[in-house]
Amino acid sequence: MTLWHGRFSGGPAEALLAFTASLAFDRRLAADDLAGSAAHVRGLGRAGVLDDAEVEAVLAALDQVEHELDGAEFAFAAGDEDIHTAIERRVTELAGPAGAKLHTGRSRNDQVATALRLWCRRELTVVGQAVVTLQQVLYERATEAGDAYLPGYTHLQRAQPVLLSHHLLAHGWALARDVDRLVDARRRLDVCPLGAGALAGSSLPLDPDGVATDLGFAARFDNSLDAVSDRDFVAEALFVVALLGVHLSRLGEEVVLWSSDEFGFMALDDAWSTGSSMLPQKKNPDVGELARGKAGRLVGHLTGVLTTLKGLPLAYNRDLQEDKEPLFDAVDQVLLALPALAGLLASATFRTERMREAADGPAAAAVDLAEHLVAAGMPFRSAHTLVGELVRDAGESGTDLARAVEAHPDLGPAAAALLAPGVAVRRRTTPGGAGPDPVAVQLERFAGQLAAERERLGDDAPARS
Ligand code: ARG
Repeated sequence: MTLWHGRFSGGPAEALLAFTASLAFDRRLAADDLAGSAAHVRGLGRAGVLDDAEVEAVLAALDQVEHELDGAEFAFAAGDEDIHTAIERRVTELAGPAGAKLHTGRSRNDQVATALRLWCRRELTVVGQAVVTLQQVLYERATEAGDAYLPGYTHLQRAQPVLLSHHLLAHGWALARDVDRLVDARRRLDVCPLGAGALAGSSLPLDPDGVATDLGFAARFDNSLDAVSDRDFVAEALFVVALLGVHLSRLGEEVVLWSSDEFGFMALDDAWSTGSSMLPQKKNPDVGELARGKAGRLVGHLTGVLTTLKGLPLAYNRDLQEDKEPLFDAVDQVLLALPALAGLLASATFRTERMREAADGPAAAAVDLAEHLVAAGMPFRSAHTLVGELVRDAGESGTDLARAVEAHPDLGPAAAALLAPGVAVRRRTTPGGAGPDPVAVQLERFAGQLAAERERLGDDAPARS
């Protein structure tokens, strides 16, 4: 029997239940529903709608339900559309008439929105902490990398040498913005919808402020229609996670490139690479590839939810039930990807000799030659043309660029010295630049960033559900 059978003369069709039920996936909201239900009942007690004995009876029944769910002893019934109705049904079985008062002044509409916000608040924290763990690995690898350098690329063409630490921290700073967005999204969703009822509030003396405080929310809702129909927080969480996924995808792509024979910049640890079922020699970077591949799925979840929301009239519509699976899956996927990438990066070997060889091509210092001419008073555009011609001539005639530079009347031996291995990267001295001096400052700033993120996210690891 459904909770709403009163108005109906017959039971629901099988296919209707199969189509509309959400129990299979919203079971994950059980702990949050129990917390919301307990706060609601305490609020009803404070308002005098339930007496103390009734409140105690319902709270005891909620504890019993928690126990049954934890021990997998909870018996779901045929009419349990979702976790919320299942819990209310069981509370009523256990607490009798007091249990039947649990839903007083409440609708599943404010109930579901409350549970989902509680879920997000906790799970975004877990995601943030997993991001920090990956950032810590990037920071440690960057610290160890010392003066190692590799070609920096634009258009995937070698452009200028950069320190390996600088390259690794570039990914670290992108992740820092993700953490900032996670914390910001968490702050914005920290509003309690309970007390909005189905859409309009209640005639009973509910206490939405007290219930919000009881659940640790920063505030209660301001508008009951908005409270039950707003899923901005789901869309925003999905955006933040999708962009995080895009950053992981870019990192994954570099793992794939760097571990190829063509680049040869990185050797993956055996534990973090996979083999081929046919080709005995293969060692594949599947973690990098899946980090890249999952991004499509995450962007799809964001797009799906935005599309679900776009035409909905106020207030609650059943369409909103479609918010949960993409949200749960997006969080699950990044929480698989983050530790996998962290483990891969922590154990990989950077082949710095190979990086150096690739970075030490003489043309990598071409802009230094142009800047040498600028220092002597030549306009940059003329210097650019002069060096470009020298590089072209050396390439076409197969002669050594350093020799041509040495012999050139405007350049000479001091300019040729700029082409020596390792010189160009040391000359990147400006703040935020790719050379050793600014990178030393950057490493310190990044350590400060990590400490600030840990402070914002807290140390305790919330249990997932
Ligand atoms: N399982 C539903 C959801 O997640 C519960 C809300 C149903 N509300 C209603 N008025 N039918 O959206």
